[in-house]
Amino acid sequence: MKRLAIFASGTGSNAKRLIDYFSGNQYISVALLISNRKEAGALEIARKANIPAISFLKEEFYNSSTVIEKLISEKIDFIVLAGFLIKVPDNILKAYENKIVNIHPALLPNFGGKGMYGLNVHKAVIESKKKESGITIHLVNEHYDEGKVLFQAACPVLENDTPEMLATQVQELEHKYFPVVIEDFILTTAAD
Ligand code: GRF
Repeated sequence: MKRLAIFASGTGSNAKRLIDYFSGNQYISVALLISNRKEAGALEIARKANIPAISFLKEEFYNSSTVIEKLISEKIDFIVLAGFLIKVPDNILKAYENKIVNIHPALLPNFGGKGMYGLNVHKAVIESKKKESGITIHLVNEHYDEGKVLFQAACPVLENDTPEMLATQVQELEHKYFPVVIEDFILTTAAD
């Protein structure tokens, strides 16, 4: 059994999709949810599914070994970032090299990097007059949004799209593809 930790800062709609998708899975289980915000909706979603869910202060992520110790004691094999808005600390990046996956709501390498989250991303896409946007699922390294791309899917940007409308399209792609791409990645990595 491969044990997954989800890191999430917000509402947690992707966390919910992952939890639902893997519940009852023979090979992969969501074993832990970690947040940097104690009011994150994602924590509640995990607790309702009886998954341990803990929040840590930003300082604990960066200036202590509390989080990594938790990952180790819970025997976590892979980490999935589902709307995690702070940088993953170096000690975790090192311990989980090539085992941390993120989802970004645009087609990287465009519209990534600092400040590119939430509606900012969709506003920037619309302002650029690009005809397409989409999702990128990628490995996480020490540079924001620059790790190896595992998967992309696109959707059209329509003439009168608002950032909110585009966000809805992109979120549908996220919910459709994130769990299956994670499953595929873990099963192929585990088989190597
Ligand atoms: C998603 O759009 C994801 O691409 C981004 O953060 C958002 C999280 O949304 N990294 P939710 O909390 O899963 O609803």
